[in-house]
Amino acid sequence: MPIRTNLMDRLELAYPIIQAPMAGGGDTPELVAAVSAAGGIGFMGATYLDPAGISGAAGAVRDATNRPFGINLFAPQPEPQIPDDPAPAVDQVKPYYAELGLEEPSVAANPGDPFEANLPAALQCGASVFSFTMGLLPPGAVQAIKEQGMFLLGTATTVNEAVALEKSGVDAIVAQGSEAGGHRGTFATTLATDFGGGLVGTMALVPQVVDAVNVPVVASGGIMDGRGIAAALALGADAVQMGTAFLTCAEAGIPDAHKDAILKATEDETRVTRAFSGRPARGIVNRFMDEVEAAGGAAAILPFPVQNALTRTLRAEAGKKGRAEFLSLWAGQGLRMSRRGPASDLVAELAGQAEETLSHLAG
Ligand SMILES: Cc1cc2nc3c(=O)[nH]c(=O)nc-3n(C[C@H](O)[C@H](O)[C@H](O)COP(=O)(O)O)c2cc1C
Repeated sequence: MPIRTNLMDRLELAYPIIQAPMAGGGDTPELVAAVSAAGGIGFMGATYLDPAGISGAAGAVRDATNRPFGINLFAPQPEPQIPDDPAPAVDQVKPYYAELGLEEPSVAANPGDPFEANLPAALQCGASVFSFTMGLLPPGAVQAIKEQGMFLLGTATTVNEAVALEKSGVDAIVAQGSEAGGHRGTFATTLATDFGGGLVGTMALVPQVVDAVNVPVVASGGIMDGRGIAAALALGADAVQMGTAFLTCAEAGIPDAHKDAILKATEDETRVTRAFSGRPARGIVNRFMDEVEAAGGAAAILPFPVQNALTRTLRAEAGKKGRAEFLSLWAGQGLRMSRRGPASDLVAELAGQAEETLSHLAG
């Protein structure tokens, strides 16, 4: 049974499949272009890039396909409250730096929020869709994105966040369930103490968001195959946004040790942690996560993005050396459904399975 939704028409999609933006190297231009060319839409997570990096990566996507693609930034974040004495956080990661033969780490000055600097490059990069997570955009940014003719997608982890996003002017909402890999998009709870309030499963979140807003909803979190896509459509979503399923594709840019960990891990082996970046994110449990959480507790983990900067060199070196115990192994709970292969095959397989599942259900 062929699938058609309003959002698919608006975004010119053959299939209701969005490859999630995955800042930090997962979403290479090759992956983004392959998904878009295959009839879904690929997204570049550009938060950790600078303006030249955004233009370069987007140029590489455009050289590979003339199909639409998306760009994604983190919404501007509150000023991090760095403790007067950050030594406990530094002391906690020092032994790991030494273990990999790296110089002692130190707390870098807060680099400042990259949103304002990156926005012009994101607007000019040729993407037709702009998505964001972890907050609301300033009204001026919403206006600039609309004036550029881009479709605007915001991320919600609760109904209240979805309603706030709709009021702010987004064209559609990504409902991110608690199964999702990577950073939580939660912004309307007190993150340091209460991000757990934003841990609502996809099955519960999507229909409640669909009921509360008048814009299309995209389901995200734990969706790994055509059955998940069919289920999301049944809950009222117009499309799905999938991250983990694309991370083990040949085109994905994460270290092999991360891909291997995803292919080996099971659904009970992930946890939401602040240990790597200072912001809650779901990844496969490893030694760094366990030891940092056990040793100093939340108090010894610096706020985002300062903790992220503190662990960056360690993570990069661990990637080069294949040391999965020091990598942020972001992944969602649908791990057992991961498989290797080219992204074009994955998109075709997902679309076929979803259509087949819906036909089967229709009798
Ligand atoms: C490695 C990784 C990086 C991510 N980076 C971003 C990002 O930069 N921006 C964003 O909006 N979402 C990001 N996400 C979250 C995804 O948009 C999405 O919510 C999630 O992947 C869905 O769950 P799944 O991984 O189970 O498919 C990331 C997810 C992963 C796994």
